[in-house]
Amino acid sequence: MSDDQIENEERPCLHCLIVELIDNFFAEYPVSNEEPDTMDTDEVTTALAKTMAELTCSRDEAGRQTMIEQLMREINSVPEAIRQKVINNGGGHANHTMFWEIMGPHGGGDPTGPLGDAIKAAFGDFAGFKAKIKEAATGRFGSGWAWLVHSDGKLLINSTANQDSPYMNGQTPILGVDVWEHAYYLRYQNKRPDYVDAWWKVVNWNAVGQRYSHALAGK
Ligand SMILES: [Fe+2]
Repeated sequence: MSDDQIENEERPCLHCLIVELIDNFFAEYPVSNEEPDTMDTDEVTTALAKTMAELTCSRDEAGRQTMIEQLMREINSVPEAIRQKVINNGGGHANHTMFWEIMGPHGGGDPTGPLGDAIKAAFGDFAGFKAKIKEAATGRFGSGWAWLVHSDGKLLINSTANQDSPYMNGQTPILGVDVWEHAYYLRYQNKRPDYVDAWWKVVNWNAVGQRYSHALAGK
């Protein structure tokens, strides 16, 4: 048995680890949703950051991402007093990790394989799919993301504000385009539609296809 196999077998369930560490955190730094004015926000935020560092520092990148995705899925169990900060940072991490993963210098073209077939089945053809993503991206007022998500066995297109994550809605993001101004303003100024049109040239469809396969497998 290899060292990797031993390590994997001894590694605790990530979800259990998250629950345990967050439970420990709130045992040490209790937060009352009913009395938010009595909370020392700086102390809680600093302590939460320390706990999140403890959560993530000793893990590999894939493990970190899995934990953050799980935290987003269970965002409603995070006390309301600090929930928005957890969304801003955790959602921002999850969204951008996906974003860097699905782009590359030799991207573009049309999706093939199971993902290509599923897109055609759901949206008619690839041109129709791109038009709907563009509609979601340009229709999002202010900052946010346009998404292709897997939800209850279906592919859907929608958008979220700021750093909200589809995981918060029980959906798995397959592809997402960042429509914060920082993603396009230097080159496209206020022309968000032009940025979205150009963005397709850098999409790594192999990576998007892998995300779809993992979603189908319930990973
Ligand atoms: Fe961004």
